[in-house]
Order: sequence, then C-alpha cells, then structure tokens
Amino acid sequence: MRTAIVYEGTQGSSAAVARIIAAEAAVHGPVIVGEVHEIPLAELDGVEFLVVGGPTHHWEDWADVARTQSSAHVLRDFHPPTDGVRGWLDHLPPRPSFSAATFDTREPGLRVLNGTAALALYRALRRRGCHLVTRPASFLVKPGQMSELMEGEQERASSWAVQVFRRAEHHHPVRVG
Ligand SMILES: Cc1cc2nc3c(=O)[nH]c(=O)nc-3n(C[C@H](O)[C@H](O)[C@H](O)COP(=O)(O)O)c2cc1C
Repeated sequence: MRTAIVYEGTQGSSAAVARIIAAEAAVHGPVIVGEVHEIPLAELDGVEFLVVGGPTHHWEDWADVARTQSSAHVLRDFHPPTDGVRGWLDHLPPRPSFSAATFDTREPGLRVLNGTAALALYRALRRRGCHLVTRPASFLVKPGQMSELMEGEQERASSWAVQVFRRAEHHHPVRVG
C-alpha cells in the first residue's frame, strides 16, 4: 500500500509522530513523508492511503487561527506556515481515490476544552470524499513553551499506526461527528 504522510508544526512534536507513523507505513509499502510545503499534490499520484496531522492551535489548526483577526499576534509570534495542511487539503481533487486518517498533537485535557486539529482535518478530508479509516487521534505534549511528547505517547502513536494500517488495508471507513 502506497502511503503519504503530510504534517505541519513548528516545534517538532507532530513531525515526531509523523516519523513514527512512517515507520509502520514502511512495513506496508512505499511511503512519502514530509511537511506540507514539501509534498506537492502531484506526489500523491498512486497513493492509496493519506495520513494528515499537525498541532492543535487555538482549538483547531492554523488555518482557522489565520482566519481570526484577533489572532494576528499569534501568527506574528510563531511564524506558522502561511497555508498549513488545511490550505493544502483545499487543493485536493474532490473524491480522491485514497482512504485517510488524521492526527494532531495537543496539550493534555478534555477535548472539549482543548480542541483538536485532528477532528477539523478529519472533517475537511471527509468533505473531499475521502474514506476515513479511524477516528481522529490526539497525541499529547507536555504543557509549556517547548513542545515535547509526553511519556508513553511515542508508544501510543506506534500502536495507533499499527491499528490504522490494519484498517486501511481492509478499507473500513468510520464516521465521526
Ligand atoms: C499559539 C498556540 C496555541 C495553542 N493552542 C492550543 C489549544 O487550543 N489546545 C491545545 O491542546 N494545545 C494548544 N497549544 C499547544 C500545541 O498544540 C502544542 O504546542 C503542539 O502540539 C506542538 O506541536 P508541534 O511541536 O508539532 O509544533 C497551542 C500552542 C500554541 C503555540
């Protein structure tokens, strides 16, 4: 199964999760993995499974932060990618032939309070007509300025990846929200 893993992030946690998922993807076939600006859509030719992820910022992903005037200072301080994964997804052809899964990194706490970029990305992919093979997943970082995955989260990402690729191979779509 040919897989593409596309992520964004400014501090490395989402990249770390993407690399863990890529290690499992490699067991199942060829894999391309990279930040959103490194993977032009043309590279998706022949891809059967797409994994998209990034940090939760202000309850969702950067695209939504960017849309909010009051968050201009956040953009100045953190220099996020201008378009982010959401912008990248906007250019996907409708009804792409691949199935997909989404993840985010975020601080610990209730999803309803912390928000989740993975759910926003999940919905964006579903609107494009992708089959989402699993529920959106969040991997937790230590609270504070420097993002670092919490203890046990690397292992959890690894187990998630195993389960996700099993489902992707059998193409089981799930519906959330
Ligand atoms: C400006 C900003 C806003 C954030 N907003 C949230 C949030 O709403 N919910 C949350 O759980 N974490 C939030 N965080 C923590 C980030 O999710 C965390 O730093 C992120 O997972 C780091 O990912 P990265 O290392 O891939 O950049 C925020 C962080 C920043 C810098």
